[in-house]
Formats: sequence, C-alpha cells, structure tokens
Amino acid sequence: MATLLQVDSSPLGDASISRQLTKEFVEHWRKANPNGKVISRDLSTISLQPVTGAWIGAAYTPEDARTPAQREILAASDSLIADLQAADEYVFGVPMHNFAIPSTLKLWIDQIARANKTFSYANGTPEGLLKGKKATFLVASGGNYDATTAMASFNFVEPYLRTVFGFLGVTDTKFISAGGAAALNYGKVDRQAFLKPHVESIRAHFHAA
Ligand SMILES: Cc1cc2nc3c(=O)[nH]c(=O)nc-3n(C[C@H](O)[C@H](O)[C@H](O)COP(=O)(O)O)c2cc1C
Repeated sequence: MATLLQVDSSPLGDASISRQLTKEFVEHWRKANPNGKVISRDLSTISLQPVTGAWIGAAYTPEDARTPAQREILAASDSLIADLQAADEYVFGVPMHNFAIPSTLKLWIDQIARANKTFSYANGTPEGLLKGKKATFLVASGGNYDATTAMASFNFVEPYLRTVFGFLGVTDTKFISAGGAAALNYGKVDRQAFLKPHVESIRAHFHAA
C-alpha cells in the first residue's frame, strides 16, 4: 500500500501557509492514491527532547546489549524512524525561522538521524539507509530567497534539508517555496491570491508525475 508521511512544523495552526500547502498536497496525493495511507505528524504537538549524552550512549550501544532504560530513551526515535521506513513518500511543511528550519523540525531530525538505522559508515563511507523514498518540501518564508535575489545566500532551509536528507539516502527531493508571505501581514496581497501560484505548483507536481 502506498504510504505518505506528512510532517508539519509551523506553530501557527490554521494561519500557517506551509500547513495549508501540505493540506493541499495531501488532498492531491489521496486522489492519486485512493487506497493509500497517510501518516500525519504535527511537530507543534509532539514534545521531542534534545539529544543528550545518555541518548548518544544508547544509540551507539548494540541493540541486543541495551538496558531497559536505554531502550526507553530511544523509544521516540524508534517510532519516528518507523514512520520514515513505513512511508514511500514524504511531505514536509516548513516555515522559515531565522533563515533556517524551525527548532521543532531540527529536534525531529536529530531523533531520526541514527547510525545503522537511517545512515551507516559500515563500509567506511557514508551510506544513507532510507532508500527509494521521495520527499517534497513546502517552504513558507516572509521574504523571498529565490536564486536570482540578493537574499538567496540567507536561505539555509533548502541547502540544509537537501544535505541532511541526501545523507540519509533521500535524494529524490522537490522544493516548492512560498516566499514573500510577509506581504500578507501588511495587507498588500490577499491570502488566496498569494497561495494561488504555489497551489498551482503542487497541482502541476501531481499532473507531471
Ligand atoms: C519565529 C519566526 C522567525 C521567522 N524568521 C524568518 C526569517 O528568518 N526569514 C523570513 O523570510 N521569514 C521569517 N519569518 C516569517 C515566516 O517564515 C513566515 O511567516 C512564514 O509564512 C512562516 O510559515 P507558516 O505560515 O507556515 O508558519 C519568521 C517567522 C517567525 C514566527
């Protein structure tokens, strides 16, 4: 069964641009995969812990030698990695925060990047273990960071996500950027008019597939 993992990280609920775009994506995906399954994770409601010394110790202890306490420490990480393994495809709603990804999404990445689970150095070179997956990132930002703009080098969202997911084996990636959302706050543009080209890009993504 085709499975999509949807991960939202905006703290803004219904006011969020990236959440509206992931919703749009999921609607198209369901139409294209009527028997498919969607796993939805909302990082604004899941309280993930930062990586600690105990977490690192547990992660690098061989699985069959872990204590019950170490298993408990890794339980959240195991469950988030199971989502990634179960799904064939991922969609992320990503608000730009301080030129980078939101801290909740970074906490999630720190939980899912695990040696011998999602990457391996067993052969002496890094190997991503999330193979055959594809990911779409729907990024909302107040400013515009398109490659042709003077602000392009301030965008740490796309290069970071491309790098970290590539490291984990997910190289089939697509970024749809809804830049310039700040205009909404100044009443310079209507929300539907702002969203229209990005909704259209999502629709085109499904028609091109
Ligand atoms: C804490 C915070 C930090 C932000 N930092 C930036 C930034 O560095 N650059 C930018 O262009 N917009 C920034 N913004 C604006 C958001 O990227 C913009 O509002 C976007 O729509 C957020 O996505 P969302 O609507 O899905 O939450 C920031 C917004 C917040 C709340």
